[in-house]
Amino acid sequence: MLRESDVLSTLMRRRPDHSLAQELYCDSGVFDADLSHIWYREWLFSIPACEIPKAGNYVVHDVGAYSVVIVRGNDGEIRAFHNSCRHRGSVLCKSKKGTHPKLVCPYHQWTYELDGRLLWAREMGPDFDASKHGLKHVHCRDVSGMVYICLADVAPPIEDFAAEAARYMAPHDLANSKVAHESTIIEHGNWKLVWENNRECYHCAGNHPSLCRTFPEDPRAIGSDNSGELSGLQRQHSQRCEAAGAPSAFLESSWGDWRFVRTPLLDGAESYTMDGKVASTRPNSTLPFRDAGSLLKYKYPGCWNHLLSDHVILFRVTPIGPMETEVRTTWLVHKDAVEGQDYDLKRLTEVWIATNNEDREVVENNQRGIRSPAYEPGPYSPIHEGGNIQFVDWYASTMIRSITGTGAATLAAE
Ligand code: FES
Ligand SMILES: [Fe+2]
Repeated sequence: MLRESDVLSTLMRRRPDHSLAQELYCDSGVFDADLSHIWYREWLFSIPACEIPKAGNYVVHDVGAYSVVIVRGNDGEIRAFHNSCRHRGSVLCKSKKGTHPKLVCPYHQWTYELDGRLLWAREMGPDFDASKHGLKHVHCRDVSGMVYICLADVAPPIEDFAAEAARYMAPHDLANSKVAHESTIIEHGNWKLVWENNRECYHCAGNHPSLCRTFPEDPRAIGSDNSGELSGLQRQHSQRCEAAGAPSAFLESSWGDWRFVRTPLLDGAESYTMDGKVASTRPNSTLPFRDAGSLLKYKYPGCWNHLLSDHVILFRVTPIGPMETEVRTTWLVHKDAVEGQDYDLKRLTEVWIATNNEDREVVENNQRGIRSPAYEPGPYSPIHEGGNIQFVDWYASTMIRSITGTGAATLAAE
């Protein structure tokens, strides 16, 4: 098990443009360092706001040792709290999701308002001050219909990201959407392998028969060639969408932790369906044409998203162990879309359910091969795996910045 100083030196010694050293994908000390320096510090996508539309609706999101309750209050505000009672620490919400008019601890029934205030605690004596025992807040922010949380005491700036998300996501009405389906899978692979697999389509032709019906594998079409060079097709598509009022041009943060780009699908396809036609005839966007492609968005380390003309797919990554990662996918359609009339659930979800399973398999094969003593870091394709180079550069620089404590200035400049 690597100590933090060993993690740092392994990162400093890494070979540029190559996959990472074995320990960085397998070791439990590295996993702990990843939690401390990335997962407990960065803003993480948690749930779509429309998943908890009514007061008292809540979802529990576990990250490492933390458990967080995201709940909508009677005032309509979404807040996040540590899922730990202020009496003797019991978990408050035992289920993954549900609805409670108040948050009542299952142990001794201390009762909290949905805004976190302690309302009732039985026979605690005359000196007990309920106002000092409210639930502990977790930073929480609704960014254009997506709820992000941050476990750090002082959260890094999110303003620039939120402003660009508001621009790029404006045509997509997440506030008036609903969750049509959710799926949670466990991949037996390190979270960085899940991301690396996401950041390239070098593997697509050999592994994703249904996705390849509509998704272009050309890295220049999907903004992952790392050169800033976009194909004529991508540029044309971007210009067409921008002329219709939908921000679409490739945009990446200076630190590299988020990106937006609206890319065309293959041959005028409209959506990720087997026949390429829309999955929902009641779209949740105001885009004036159906073949608007996909707004590809990511925010490290917690999510990547596809926003189409007719529906939206949100992917959430959560590390479970050094070689285990949860991927939760939610499909959003217009809140008034009726299943069986405006959309068919199988048609809406089948391509990405298959693709997620195919990705799980390649990630697990990748992890197994990396565990071999014979593994050594290999070169990324400069043509197809620019996204991987970008990801591991972001990972290594973010870890080094945090471990060495050189982060404050850069963070403030996000
Ligand atoms: S631990 Fe919650 S009421 Fe006692
Ligand atoms: Fe894939």
